[in-house]
Amino acid sequence: MTRVGGAIRVDGVDLSFPVRGGGRLPVLDGMTLEIAGGGIVALIGPNGCGKSTLLRVIAGLLAPERGTVDLDTTPIVEPDPRIGLVFQEPRLLPWRSAADNITYPLELAGWPPARRSKRLTELVDLVSLDPGVTGNRPAELSGGTRQRVALARALALEPEVLLLDEPFSALDALSRERFDLELLRLWERAASTILLVTHSIAEAILVADRIVVMSPRPGRVIADIPVELTRPRSIDDLDAAVVSETAREVRRHLGEGEAAA
Ligand SMILES: Nc1ncnc2c1ncn2[C@@H]1O[C@H](COP(=O)(O)OP(=O)(O)O)[C@@H](O)[C@H]1O
Ligand SMILES: [Mg+2]
Repeated sequence: MTRVGGAIRVDGVDLSFPVRGGGRLPVLDGMTLEIAGGGIVALIGPNGCGKSTLLRVIAGLLAPERGTVDLDTTPIVEPDPRIGLVFQEPRLLPWRSAADNITYPLELAGWPPARRSKRLTELVDLVSLDPGVTGNRPAELSGGTRQRVALARALALEPEVLLLDEPFSALDALSRERFDLELLRLWERAASTILLVTHSIAEAILVADRIVVMSPRPGRVIADIPVELTRPRSIDDLDAAVVSETAREVRRHLGEGEAAA
């Protein structure tokens, strides 16, 4: 079975938060972004520019004041099982084992135990989780392992779109490169569309088709840069000349955004 991820279209999204003492803080301003089905886009922008807010809007957790989000031809106005979200911090249920965290969405969806357990085996393999630790609770796992569990949970119901909010930012550089490459293998197998928020230009270049750069708050797109590397990719690709050119362009836009703010 070949499956292709869904296409995401964010069109003219404005969003602000109420400020204590009155007024509102504009966070997204005319945010527009399209991701083709099966694509991987990396989103880079300064701290507080609205990246996590944008992911919550796309996931249907937060309603924009203006503008729309569509997955293929359906408007997203509430959380949708076709969209998986991995938060910056893993947000696992502390009293449940890793396995029971991963299968939680399947329980909620009413899957019988035998089917859940079969899917668990697939997911553990998909995210390269050590099968020996699935009985452990989150507090007994390393940060990287917790993030794998959160990723497996987000993939449990085979989402068409995966939203990843700086998922590897707490890892050391070498583990991070390994995770990036694993993410690419996972993307090939799970065939979802991926939007990855990251602060790492190297990570963005290694995994993405395009790098979208956001302005300081209120966030909007100030650059959309294609990554001209063929696939499959490896760490050696990071030595290519195109990488330093792309990195320079991303930095230039980030710098211009900061200067204009
Ligand atoms: N629920 C909220 N209520 C009020 N302000 C918020 C809320 N969530 C985020 N913000 C503010 O919105 C801005 C953007 O936040 P966020 O989307 O988390 O930025 P980023 O992920 O790009 O660092 C920040 O100034 C943050 O303090
Ligand atoms: Mg954030």
